[in-house]
Amino acid sequence: MSKYSLNINGKIQAVDLAPDTPLLWALRDSLNLVGTKYGCGAGQCGACTVQINGVPTRSCLMPVSALAKQKITTIEGLDSKAMHPLQQAWQELDVPQCGYCQAGQIMTAAALLKDKPHPTDADIDAAMSGNLCRCASYIRIRAGIHRAAELANGKKKA
Ligand code: FES
Ligand code: FES
Repeated sequence: MSKYSLNINGKIQAVDLAPDTPLLWALRDSLNLVGTKYGCGAGQCGACTVQINGVPTRSCLMPVSALAKQKITTIEGLDSKAMHPLQQAWQELDVPQCGYCQAGQIMTAAALLKDKPHPTDADIDAAMSGNLCRCASYIRIRAGIHRAAELANGKKKA
């Protein structure tokens, strides 16, 4: 075991773990940040997506020993009141079905909107293609991202 200081959601958090422990387990088991989900554990599904320095990253593949001085953002830290435009849009349009994949979807979508505040369908499909949804909520996810882009630009409900 070794001690690591992780910068998570703007707070330094200490964990004592084996160096190859995936960030996902540090979040869920050591820090009780359980919004980030375990899906495949092999980088294939996107359920475990967090942002590292703003880049969507599979936390199941990221060892804690590689994260010194990196800024980690989880779904819990996306917005202090859970009112990020994506979270508002997700509620407005009832995007989730079972919900299991949705934290990962939102973390990927948030990075897309930062990069492209007005994404096209093609931009969305390209950015989101690695985030799988067993409930096939893809059409609502796409609509939710468009709606979040509107909300971020101050457009009220029609
Ligand atoms: S749990 Fe990490 S990609 Fe599936
Ligand atoms: S909403 Fe069920 S897996 Fe995506």
